[in-house]
Amino acid sequence: MIDTHAHLMFPEFKDDIVNVLKRAKDAGISKIINVGCDLKSCKSSVEMGAKYPELFGTLGMHPYEAQFVNDSLMNEWRKLILENKKIVAIGECGLDYFKAKVEKEIQKKAFILQIKLAKEFDLPIIVHNRDADIDCLEILDEEFADLKKVPVVFHCYGSDLEFARRLWDRGIYTSFTGIITYPNARELREVAREVPMDLFMVETDCPYLAPQSYRGKRNESSYVLEVVREIARVKGISFKEVEKISTLNAEKFFELNQR
Ligand code: NI
Repeated sequence: MIDTHAHLMFPEFKDDIVNVLKRAKDAGISKIINVGCDLKSCKSSVEMGAKYPELFGTLGMHPYEAQFVNDSLMNEWRKLILENKKIVAIGECGLDYFKAKVEKEIQKKAFILQIKLAKEFDLPIIVHNRDADIDCLEILDEEFADLKKVPVVFHCYGSDLEFARRLWDRGIYTSFTGIITYPNARELREVAREVPMDLFMVETDCPYLAPQSYRGKRNESSYVLEVVREIARVKGISFKEVEKISTLNAEKFFELNQR
């Protein structure tokens, strides 16, 4: 299995990262995408990718960090991407209108700058979207003539089934976290039931969003098993099959076998 979205550089893992990685390995997780979301975590993402063979890095600024995204940062990232084969994606980046802490226009500008960099290097894009469905899709449609040719994932998918269908029509992936195991996540389970087999991935988004059986605790990569189990249950197929397909999807999406 592959945990396609973790933040193992966060302080929550400072004291026991080695044990966290060992438990993940023992649970059958062979690779982890260790996602950057601000200046500090991007730096750690690259460093940890160099240190741990199973970790792959990304460069991305969460929408709440949008004010720090500018041309000079993109230039720094250009250098990092050229020097580091283990930087496998741009993101997480996108739009978050939930608390609208940062002005929408500033968020959009930052999202577009990061998309343009991804285009330049043919890197996949990890999208963070909260309450901004239409604007996210509008920007992607404007930036790409044919989204089917570009690996884009809406991570921690949380919108409705109708919007998911619009994404799938464009070849955009949806990725599921432990939220899918929460009792009130009925609609999300419907999305998982309907998602085409070639357009989904699994993730923890740890340290956040621990699945139901660990709820309230720190989440970690080994718990991605719970997400696989729940998708298998709602799709009415075996754990093994979801394990296999989600792994193939992630390897293809991030081109992990070429790194
Ligand atoms: Ni995240």
